Amino acid sequence: MKILIIGSGGRENAILNKLLKHELFFTGTNAYMSEHATKIDIDEVDNEGLIGFVKENNIDLTVVGPEAPLKNGIVNEFEKEGLTIFGPTLEAAKLEWSKEYAKVIMDKYDVPTGAYESFTDYEEAKTYIGDKAPIVIKYDGLAAGKGVVVAMTNEEAHTALKMMFSSYGDKVVIEEFLDGYEFSLMAFVSGEEVYPMQVAQDHKRAFDHDKGPNTGGMGAYSPVPMVSDTDIDEATIIINKVAKGMVTEGVPFKGILYGGFIKTQDGVKVIEFNARFGDPETEVVLPRLESDLAEVFLNIIHSKEVVLEWNSTFTLGVVMASKGYPLSYKKGIKITNPQGLHMGTKLEDGEVLTNGGRVLFVLGTGSSLEEAQKDAYDKVNKVECDYLYYRSDIGNNSL
Ligand code: AMP
Ligand code: GLY
Repeated sequence: MKILIIGSGGRENAILNKLLKHELFFTGTNAYMSEHATKIDIDEVDNEGLIGFVKENNIDLTVVGPEAPLKNGIVNEFEKEGLTIFGPTLEAAKLEWSKEYAKVIMDKYDVPTGAYESFTDYEEAKTYIGDKAPIVIKYDGLAAGKGVVVAMTNEEAHTALKMMFSSYGDKVVIEEFLDGYEFSLMAFVSGEEVYPMQVAQDHKRAFDHDKGPNTGGMGAYSPVPMVSDTDIDEATIIINKVAKGMVTEGVPFKGILYGGFIKTQDGVKVIEFNARFGDPETEVVLPRLESDLAEVFLNIIHSKEVVLEWNSTFTLGVVMASKGYPLSYKKGIKITNPQGLHMGTKLEDGEVLTNGGRVLFVLGTGSSLEEAQKDAYDKVNKVECDYLYYRSDIGNNSL
Protein backbone atom coordinates (compact mmCIF):
# COMPACT_ATOMS: atom_id res chain seq x y z
CA MET A 1 0.00 0.00 0.00
CA LYS A 2 0.88 3.66 -0.26
CA ILE A 3 0.51 5.17 3.18
CA LEU A 4 0.74 8.82 4.23
CA ILE A 5 1.66 9.50 7.86
CA ILE A 6 0.65 12.94 9.08
CA GLY A 7 3.30 14.19 11.50
CA SER A 8 6.99 13.67 12.21
CA GLY A 9 7.61 13.22 15.94
CA GLY A 10 8.60 10.17 17.95
CA ARG A 11 5.06 8.83 17.81
CA GLU A 12 4.98 8.99 14.01
CA ASN A 13 8.47 7.45 13.88
CA ALA A 14 7.08 4.52 15.91
CA ILE A 15 4.09 4.18 13.57
CA LEU A 16 6.45 4.25 10.56
CA ASN A 17 8.53 1.42 12.06
CA LYS A 18 5.45 -0.82 12.00
CA LEU A 19 4.64 -0.02 8.36
CA LEU A 20 8.05 -0.44 6.72
CA LYS A 21 6.88 -2.98 4.14
CA HIS A 22 4.69 -0.30 2.56
CA GLU A 23 5.54 2.72 0.43
CA LEU A 24 5.53 5.56 2.95
CA PHE A 25 5.15 9.34 2.87
CA PHE A 26 5.13 11.82 5.76
CA THR A 27 4.60 15.50 6.53
CA GLY A 28 7.08 17.50 8.58
CA THR A 29 10.76 16.96 9.28
CA ASN A 30 12.52 13.96 10.81
CA ALA A 31 15.98 12.68 9.86
CA TYR A 32 15.15 9.03 10.65
CA MET A 33 11.80 9.04 8.86
CA SER A 34 13.44 10.64 5.79
CA GLU A 35 15.49 7.49 5.33
CA HIS A 36 12.42 5.27 5.07
CA ALA A 37 9.73 7.52 3.68
CA THR A 38 9.26 10.37 1.27
CA LYS A 39 8.92 13.73 2.99
CA ILE A 40 6.20 15.89 1.50
CA ASP A 41 6.16 19.66 1.90
CA ILE A 42 2.53 20.18 2.74
CA ASP A 43 1.54 21.57 6.11
CA GLU A 44 -0.29 19.13 8.39
CA VAL A 45 -3.18 21.57 8.71
CA ASP A 46 -3.53 22.22 4.97
CA ASN A 47 -6.50 19.90 4.32
CA GLU A 48 -6.93 20.98 0.73
CA GLY A 49 -3.24 20.48 -0.06
CA LEU A 50 -3.20 17.05 1.58
CA ILE A 51 -6.35 15.92 -0.22
CA GLY A 52 -4.82 17.02 -3.52
CA PHE A 53 -1.63 15.06 -2.78
CA VAL A 54 -3.49 11.91 -1.74
CA LYS A 55 -5.65 11.97 -4.86
CA GLU A 56 -2.79 12.69 -7.26
CA ASN A 57 -0.57 9.98 -5.79
CA ASN A 58 -3.26 7.35 -5.20
CA ILE A 59 -2.46 7.06 -1.49
CA ASP A 60 -4.39 4.09 -0.04
CA LEU A 61 -4.37 5.07 3.61
CA THR A 62 -3.65 8.22 5.62
CA VAL A 63 -2.80 7.93 9.32
CA VAL A 64 -3.05 11.00 11.54
CA GLY A 65 -0.50 11.30 14.36
CA PRO A 66 -0.94 14.67 16.11
CA GLU A 67 -3.96 16.46 17.55
CA ALA A 68 -3.77 19.69 15.53
CA PRO A 69 -4.89 18.15 12.19
CA LEU A 70 -7.76 16.36 14.00
CA LYS A 71 -8.85 19.68 15.48
CA ASN A 72 -8.57 21.07 11.95
CA GLY A 73 -11.14 18.54 10.71
CA ILE A 74 -8.80 16.52 8.49
CA VAL A 75 -10.85 13.34 8.96
CA ASN A 76 -14.15 15.05 8.12
CA GLU A 77 -12.66 16.57 4.95
CA PHE A 78 -11.01 13.33 3.77
CA GLU A 79 -14.21 11.35 4.39
CA LYS A 80 -16.24 13.86 2.37
CA GLU A 81 -13.90 13.05 -0.53
CA GLY A 82 -14.26 9.30 0.03
CA LEU A 83 -10.58 8.96 1.09
CA THR A 84 -9.43 6.33 3.59
CA ILE A 85 -8.11 7.94 6.76
CA PHE A 86 -7.43 6.69 10.29
CA GLY A 87 -8.52 9.02 13.09
CA PRO A 88 -11.60 10.51 14.75
CA THR A 89 -13.71 13.31 13.32
CA LEU A 90 -13.41 16.85 14.64
CA GLU A 91 -16.53 16.28 16.76
CA ALA A 92 -15.28 13.03 18.31
CA ALA A 93 -11.79 14.47 18.88
CA LYS A 94 -13.43 17.11 21.08
CA LEU A 95 -12.78 14.64 23.93
CA GLU A 96 -9.21 15.90 23.67
CA TRP A 97 -9.48 19.46 22.43
CA SER A 98 -11.98 20.59 25.04
CA LYS A 99 -11.28 19.54 28.59
CA GLU A 100 -14.71 20.84 29.55
CA TYR A 101 -16.44 18.63 26.96
CA ALA A 102 -14.51 15.59 28.24
CA LYS A 103 -15.74 16.40 31.75
CA VAL A 104 -19.36 16.73 30.58
CA ILE A 105 -19.18 13.33 28.83
CA MET A 106 -17.58 11.76 31.92
CA ASP A 107 -20.27 13.16 34.22
CA LYS A 108 -23.02 11.98 31.89
CA TYR A 109 -21.69 8.44 31.46
CA ASP A 110 -20.64 7.85 35.04
CA VAL A 111 -16.87 7.91 34.61
CA PRO A 112 -14.80 8.67 37.74
CA THR A 113 -12.71 11.85 37.42
CA GLY A 114 -11.71 14.84 39.56
CA ALA A 115 -14.37 17.39 40.53
CA TYR A 116 -14.06 20.58 38.48
CA GLU A 117 -15.51 23.99 37.60
CA SER A 118 -14.86 25.96 34.43
CA PHE A 119 -14.47 29.72 34.23
CA THR A 120 -14.35 32.39 31.58
CA ASP A 121 -14.01 35.20 34.10
CA TYR A 122 -10.63 35.72 35.74
CA GLU A 123 -12.01 37.31 38.95
CA GLU A 124 -14.50 34.48 39.49
CA ALA A 125 -11.79 31.88 38.94
CA LYS A 126 -9.54 33.73 41.39
CA THR A 127 -12.24 33.77 44.07
CA TYR A 128 -12.96 30.08 43.49
CA ILE A 129 -9.29 29.11 43.91
CA GLY A 130 -9.00 31.15 47.12
CA ASP A 131 -6.80 29.00 49.35
CA LYS A 132 -7.82 25.60 47.94
CA ALA A 133 -4.29 24.45 46.99
CA PRO A 134 -3.23 21.82 46.10
CA ILE A 135 -5.35 22.39 43.02
CA VAL A 136 -4.99 21.95 39.26
CA ILE A 137 -5.42 24.73 36.70
CA LYS A 138 -6.00 23.71 33.07
CA TYR A 139 -6.41 25.75 29.94
CA ASP A 140 -9.51 24.46 28.09
CA GLY A 141 -7.85 23.95 24.68
CA LEU A 142 -4.79 22.32 23.12
CA ALA A 143 -1.45 23.46 24.52
CA ALA A 144 1.00 20.65 23.71
CA GLY A 145 0.98 19.32 27.27
CA LYS A 146 1.89 22.72 28.68
CA GLY A 147 -1.59 24.03 29.50
CA VAL A 148 -1.74 22.32 32.89
CA VAL A 149 -0.33 23.52 36.19
CA VAL A 150 -0.52 21.32 39.27
CA ALA A 151 -0.27 23.98 41.97
CA MET A 152 0.86 22.74 45.36
CA THR A 153 0.63 26.20 46.98
CA ASN A 154 -1.97 28.98 46.77
CA GLU A 155 0.65 31.35 45.41
CA GLU A 156 1.50 28.95 42.55
CA ALA A 157 -2.20 28.53 41.81
CA HIS A 158 -2.81 32.25 41.49
CA THR A 159 0.31 32.80 39.38
CA ALA A 160 -0.76 29.95 37.07
CA LEU A 161 -4.26 31.36 36.71
CA LYS A 162 -2.91 34.74 35.66
CA MET A 163 -0.58 33.06 33.15
CA MET A 164 -3.40 30.93 31.66
CA PHE A 165 -5.67 33.90 31.07
CA SER A 166 -2.89 36.05 29.63
CA SER A 167 -1.08 33.51 27.42
CA TYR A 168 -3.71 31.02 26.31
CA GLY A 169 -7.16 32.50 26.23
CA ASP A 170 -10.50 32.75 27.72
CA LYS A 171 -11.47 29.54 29.43
CA VAL A 172 -9.89 27.54 32.24
CA VAL A 173 -10.93 24.38 34.02
CA ILE A 174 -10.04 24.22 37.70
CA GLU A 175 -9.83 20.71 39.00
CA GLU A 176 -9.52 18.83 42.24
CA PHE A 177 -5.97 17.59 42.90
CA LEU A 178 -5.81 13.80 42.62
CA ASP A 179 -3.11 11.86 44.39
CA GLY A 180 -1.81 8.49 43.18
CA TYR A 181 0.20 6.83 40.42
CA GLU A 182 -0.52 7.52 36.78
CA PHE A 183 -0.66 5.23 33.78
CA SER A 184 -1.78 5.44 30.17
CA LEU A 185 -4.03 2.98 28.42
CA MET A 186 -4.70 3.47 24.73
CA ALA A 187 -7.30 1.56 22.73
CA PHE A 188 -8.23 1.16 19.11
CA VAL A 189 -11.88 2.17 19.04
CA SER A 190 -14.48 1.77 16.33
CA GLY A 191 -17.87 2.94 17.62
CA GLU A 192 -18.75 0.65 20.52
CA GLU A 193 -15.92 -1.80 19.79
CA VAL A 194 -12.88 -1.27 22.01
CA TYR A 195 -9.53 -3.06 21.57
CA PRO A 196 -7.19 -2.06 24.39
CA MET A 197 -3.44 -1.93 23.88
CA GLN A 198 -0.80 -2.69 26.49
CA VAL A 199 -0.40 -0.32 29.42
CA ALA A 200 2.41 2.26 29.55
CA GLN A 201 3.64 4.89 31.97
CA ASP A 202 4.80 8.34 30.93
CA HIS A 203 7.05 10.68 32.96
CA LYS A 204 5.53 14.14 32.59
CA ARG A 205 7.88 16.26 34.65
CA ALA A 206 11.09 17.63 33.20
CA PHE A 207 13.51 16.47 35.90
CA ASP A 208 14.36 13.44 38.03
CA HIS A 209 12.06 12.51 40.94
CA ASP A 210 9.15 14.18 39.13
CA LYS A 211 10.50 17.68 39.71
CA GLY A 212 10.24 20.67 37.41
CA PRO A 213 7.55 21.74 34.96
CA ASN A 214 5.17 19.46 33.06
CA THR A 215 6.38 18.52 29.57
CA GLY A 216 4.99 16.50 26.68
CA GLY A 217 6.62 13.46 28.36
CA MET A 218 10.27 12.65 29.19
CA GLY A 219 10.25 8.87 28.99
CA ALA A 220 8.00 5.83 29.15
CA TYR A 221 7.95 2.08 29.58
CA SER A 222 5.67 -0.88 29.01
CA PRO A 223 4.40 -3.08 30.59
CA VAL A 224 4.10 -1.36 33.98
CA PRO A 225 4.60 -3.79 36.88
CA MET A 226 3.18 -1.33 39.46
CA VAL A 227 -0.14 -1.21 37.59
CA SER A 228 -2.32 -4.20 38.58
CA ASP A 229 -4.68 -6.21 36.40
CA THR A 230 -7.55 -4.72 38.41
CA ASP A 231 -6.33 -1.20 37.54
CA ILE A 232 -6.22 -2.17 33.87
CA ASP A 233 -9.72 -3.68 34.09
CA GLU A 234 -11.09 -0.49 35.65
CA ALA A 235 -9.44 1.61 32.95
CA THR A 236 -10.79 -0.67 30.21
CA ILE A 237 -14.32 -0.38 31.60
CA ILE A 238 -13.95 3.41 31.52
CA ILE A 239 -12.82 3.44 27.88
CA ASN A 240 -15.77 1.19 27.00
CA LYS A 241 -18.20 3.52 28.77
CA VAL A 242 -16.87 6.52 26.87
CA ALA A 243 -16.93 4.72 23.51
CA LYS A 244 -20.55 3.70 24.13
CA GLY A 245 -21.39 7.19 25.37
CA MET A 246 -20.02 8.78 22.21
CA VAL A 247 -22.22 6.48 20.09
CA THR A 248 -25.23 7.51 22.19
CA GLU A 249 -24.24 11.15 21.70
CA GLY A 250 -24.35 10.61 17.92
CA VAL A 251 -20.59 11.21 17.61
CA PRO A 252 -19.12 7.70 17.33
CA PHE A 253 -15.39 7.61 17.93
CA LYS A 254 -13.11 5.92 15.43
CA GLY A 255 -9.39 5.93 16.03
CA ILE A 256 -7.21 5.83 19.12
CA LEU A 257 -8.80 6.73 22.41
CA TYR A 258 -6.06 7.43 24.93
CA GLY A 259 -6.93 7.43 28.61
CA GLY A 260 -4.60 9.13 31.06
CA PHE A 261 -5.47 7.48 34.38
CA ILE A 262 -4.55 7.90 38.01
CA LYS A 263 -4.93 5.20 40.62
CA THR A 264 -6.20 6.96 43.75
CA GLN A 265 -7.33 5.60 47.10
CA ASP A 266 -10.87 5.61 45.66
CA GLY A 267 -9.94 3.61 42.58
CA VAL A 268 -8.91 4.49 39.04
CA LYS A 269 -9.92 7.96 37.79
CA VAL A 270 -9.45 9.80 34.52
CA ILE A 271 -6.94 12.65 34.28
CA GLU A 272 -7.48 13.30 30.58
CA PHE A 273 -8.45 11.80 27.26
CA ASN A 274 -6.54 12.17 24.03
CA ALA A 275 -8.01 11.38 20.64
CA ARG A 276 -4.76 10.01 19.21
CA PHE A 277 -1.72 7.90 19.99
CA GLY A 278 0.19 9.19 23.03
CA ASP A 279 3.70 10.49 22.66
CA PRO A 280 5.94 8.93 24.07
CA GLU A 281 3.66 5.99 25.03
CA THR A 282 3.34 4.87 21.41
CA GLU A 283 7.11 4.51 21.12
CA VAL A 284 7.10 1.83 23.85
CA VAL A 285 3.74 0.19 23.09
CA LEU A 286 3.89 -0.35 19.31
CA PRO A 287 7.20 -2.28 19.37
CA ARG A 288 5.31 -4.86 21.47
CA LEU A 289 2.54 -5.27 18.88
CA GLU A 290 2.84 -8.42 16.78
CA SER A 291 -0.28 -7.85 14.65
CA ASP A 292 -0.07 -6.11 11.29
CA LEU A 293 -0.65 -2.42 12.08
CA ALA A 294 -1.87 -1.41 8.61
CA GLU A 295 -4.45 -4.19 8.76
CA VAL A 296 -5.58 -3.03 12.21
CA PHE A 297 -6.02 0.54 10.91
CA LEU A 298 -8.10 -0.67 7.96
CA ASN A 299 -10.24 -2.96 10.12
CA ILE A 300 -11.02 -0.12 12.52
CA ILE A 301 -11.89 2.18 9.63
CA HIS A 302 -14.17 -0.44 8.05
CA SER A 303 -15.69 -1.57 11.39
CA LYS A 304 -14.30 -5.08 11.07
CA GLU A 305 -13.12 -7.20 13.96
CA VAL A 306 -9.58 -6.60 15.19
CA VAL A 307 -7.27 -9.11 16.86
CA LEU A 308 -4.31 -7.63 18.72
CA GLU A 309 -1.36 -9.86 19.57
CA TRP A 310 1.45 -8.69 21.83
CA ASN A 311 4.92 -9.95 22.64
CA SER A 312 6.23 -10.11 26.20
CA THR A 313 9.24 -7.82 25.64
CA PHE A 314 9.80 -4.99 28.11
CA THR A 315 10.37 -1.65 26.40
CA LEU A 316 11.70 1.51 28.03
CA GLY A 317 12.54 4.79 26.35
CA VAL A 318 14.41 7.86 27.50
CA VAL A 319 13.66 11.23 25.91
CA MET A 320 16.71 13.35 25.14
CA ALA A 321 15.51 16.95 25.02
CA SER A 322 17.05 20.29 24.12
CA LYS A 323 18.41 22.19 27.11
CA GLY A 324 15.76 24.74 28.05
CA TYR A 325 12.76 22.59 27.02
CA PRO A 326 9.81 22.92 27.82
CA LEU A 327 10.63 26.64 27.74
CA SER A 328 12.84 28.15 25.03
CA TYR A 329 15.69 26.31 23.31
CA LYS A 330 17.89 26.51 20.24
CA LYS A 331 17.58 24.33 17.15
CA GLY A 332 20.09 23.13 14.58
CA ILE A 333 22.68 21.58 16.93
CA LYS A 334 24.60 18.62 15.49
CA ILE A 335 24.02 15.14 16.97
CA THR A 336 26.68 12.47 16.45
CA ASN A 337 25.66 8.83 16.74
CA PRO A 338 21.93 9.40 17.36
CA GLN A 339 20.11 6.40 18.83
CA GLY A 340 16.54 5.17 18.82
CA LEU A 341 13.60 7.06 17.39
CA HIS A 342 13.65 10.68 16.35
CA MET A 343 11.24 13.14 17.96
CA GLY A 344 12.61 16.44 16.67
CA THR A 345 15.45 16.19 14.17
CA LYS A 346 16.29 17.22 10.64
CA LEU A 347 18.78 16.03 8.08
CA GLU A 348 21.04 18.71 6.58
CA ASP A 349 24.04 17.97 4.36
CA GLY A 350 24.11 14.42 5.67
CA GLU A 351 24.18 15.56 9.31
CA VAL A 352 21.49 14.99 11.93
CA LEU A 353 20.55 18.25 13.68
CA THR A 354 18.24 19.01 16.59
CA ASN A 355 14.94 20.47 15.44
CA GLY A 356 12.64 20.56 18.45
CA GLY A 357 12.22 20.45 22.22
CA ARG A 358 12.12 16.70 22.51
CA VAL A 359 14.82 15.42 20.15
CA LEU A 360 15.46 11.67 20.52
CA PHE A 361 13.58 8.76 22.06
CA VAL A 362 16.24 6.24 23.00
CA LEU A 363 14.53 2.88 23.19
CA GLY A 364 15.77 -0.06 25.24
CA THR A 365 14.33 -3.58 25.20
CA GLY A 366 14.80 -6.66 27.36
CA SER A 367 13.12 -9.58 29.03
CA SER A 368 12.69 -7.56 32.25
CA LEU A 369 12.25 -3.90 33.08
CA GLU A 370 15.79 -3.79 34.53
CA GLU A 371 17.22 -5.10 31.28
CA ALA A 372 15.24 -2.66 29.17
CA GLN A 373 16.32 0.23 31.41
CA LYS A 374 19.99 -0.75 31.21
CA ASP A 375 19.78 -1.15 27.43
CA ALA A 376 18.19 2.29 27.05
CA TYR A 377 20.76 4.11 29.21
CA ASP A 378 23.67 2.27 27.54
CA LYS A 379 22.40 3.68 24.25
CA VAL A 380 21.87 7.16 25.74
CA ASN A 381 25.58 7.15 26.61
CA LYS A 382 26.48 6.60 22.96
CA VAL A 383 24.76 9.78 21.81
CA GLU A 384 27.17 12.66 21.35
CA CYS A 385 25.54 16.07 21.75
CA ASP A 386 26.24 18.47 24.63
CA TYR A 387 23.01 20.31 24.04
CA LEU A 388 20.69 17.47 25.16
CA TYR A 389 19.46 16.61 28.66
CA TYR A 390 17.46 13.62 29.93
CA ARG A 391 16.01 12.12 33.07
CA SER A 392 18.10 9.41 34.67
CA ASP A 393 15.22 7.73 36.54
CA ILE A 394 12.87 6.47 33.80
CA GLY A 395 11.28 3.23 35.01
CA ASN A 396 12.42 3.56 38.64
CA ASN A 397 8.77 3.92 39.73
CA SER A 398 8.27 0.22 39.09
CA LEU A 399 11.71 -1.07 40.08
P1 AMP B 1 -3.20 16.64 31.36
O1 AMP B 1 -2.66 17.45 30.22
O2 AMP B 1 -4.59 16.92 31.73
O3 AMP B 1 -2.89 15.19 31.19
O4 AMP B 1 -2.30 17.00 32.60
C1 AMP B 1 -0.89 16.86 32.56
C2 AMP B 1 -0.39 16.24 33.84
O5 AMP B 1 -0.77 17.05 34.95
C3 AMP B 1 -0.99 14.88 34.16
O6 AMP B 1 -0.33 13.84 33.51
C4 AMP B 1 -0.81 14.82 35.65
O7 AMP B 1 0.52 14.49 35.99
C5 AMP B 1 -1.06 16.24 36.06
N1 AMP B 1 -2.49 16.40 36.45
C6 AMP B 1 -3.49 16.75 35.64
N2 AMP B 1 -4.66 16.78 36.30
C7 AMP B 1 -4.39 16.43 37.58
C8 AMP B 1 -5.18 16.29 38.78
N3 AMP B 1 -6.49 16.52 38.79
N4 AMP B 1 -4.53 15.91 39.89
C9 AMP B 1 -3.20 15.69 39.91
N5 AMP B 1 -2.40 15.81 38.82
C10 AMP B 1 -2.97 16.19 37.67
N1 GLY C 1 2.13 11.44 26.68
C1 GLY C 1 0.99 12.26 26.80
C2 GLY C 1 0.36 12.66 25.54
O1 GLY C 1 0.60 12.10 24.49
O2 GLY C 1 -0.43 13.58 25.56
